[in-house]
Amino acid sequence: MSFPTERPAVWFVTGTSRGLGLELVKQLLERGEHVAATTRSSERLLAALGDGVDTTGLLPLTVDLRDEASVERAVRETTKRFGGLDVVVNNAGYGYLAAVEETSDRDVRDMLDVQVVGVWNVLRAALPVLREQHGGHIVNVSSILGLTAVPGWGLYCAGKFALEGLSEALAAEVADFGIKVTIVEPGYFRTEFLTEDSIALPAETTPHYPAIRQMVVDHLKLQGHQLGDPEKGAAAIIDQVRAGKGPLRQLLGSDAHAYATAKVEALRANLDATALTAPSTDFPSA
Ligand SMILES: NC(=O)c1ccc[n+]([C@@H]2O[C@H](COP(=O)([O-])OP(=O)(O)OC[C@H]3O[C@@H](n4cnc5c(N)ncnc54)[C@H](OP(=O)(O)O)[C@@H]3O)[C@@H](O)[C@H]2O)c1
Repeated sequence: MSFPTERPAVWFVTGTSRGLGLELVKQLLERGEHVAATTRSSERLLAALGDGVDTTGLLPLTVDLRDEASVERAVRETTKRFGGLDVVVNNAGYGYLAAVEETSDRDVRDMLDVQVVGVWNVLRAALPVLREQHGGHIVNVSSILGLTAVPGWGLYCAGKFALEGLSEALAAEVADFGIKVTIVEPGYFRTEFLTEDSIALPAETTPHYPAIRQMVVDHLKLQGHQLGDPEKGAAAIIDQVRAGKGPLRQLLGSDAHAYATAKVEALRANLDATALTAPSTDFPSA
């Protein structure tokens, strides 16, 4: 079995009761695809889908992504229900706004548990299925903050940079098995990401970072005014997977594209500035 195919594909999407994940589930079901949708609360997912969506092709799964056994069970249930698995979308994630110095040990571990350990649990469970069928697509939802970092977002960036690193390595490892990998890098999208329910803040702050306190206020005010349309974002992700081709990094939003361009220019300037000194630490060639 190879992918993409003309038959309905089987998608495994994480973090689906709101935002981009919810939009993906809705559009996939509308297109007649089969969807295993993981969430911390299937009840919340079903309530969010409402009566207007035909859920015949839906398998809602209450999963703790941090728990390997819970994830393995979910992947097993998916292949049992739909007879296979084609596309995995690691979408679950949340923002965290604080100075690096204010970020507690617990907060670091919680973030990496979801954004790195959780993704790794999904990959370990799903890859054998995709590898054996010699086809499939892994979509890892990162952020423009997985490519460039800004003050206040240190922990979130740490998680997304880690996700990008593992995704790049993975893409090279599984290409020969016919498995594609896409790293999605959205800019600001009008989901629930910046609501007080979603974004995490440190339990304790210091008085030394007033600009970051102001960023928190500004970001909460930005909710509902972000540039990115999640409907279009979800459609763009599905279309790239369905096309079966596209670059490793899928930038979403003109803001994301501008940030990425600035990052590349800064990196270029950094490379030029160290071009003469970098080789100075080499052993002399034989
Ligand atoms: N919106 C943006 O501006 C933006 C920009 C760049 C990247 N992103 C990324 O896009 C992805 C989707 O975010 P969104 O914008 O759709 O935000 P959202 O509306 O807040 O939805 C986030 C989803 O992630 C899951 N999630 C949140 N915290 C979690 C936790 N602690 N453990 C497990 N799952 C958790 C939730 O799933 P359940 O509640 O169903 O379990 C929820 O459906 C995330 O990876 C985010 O980092 C968003």
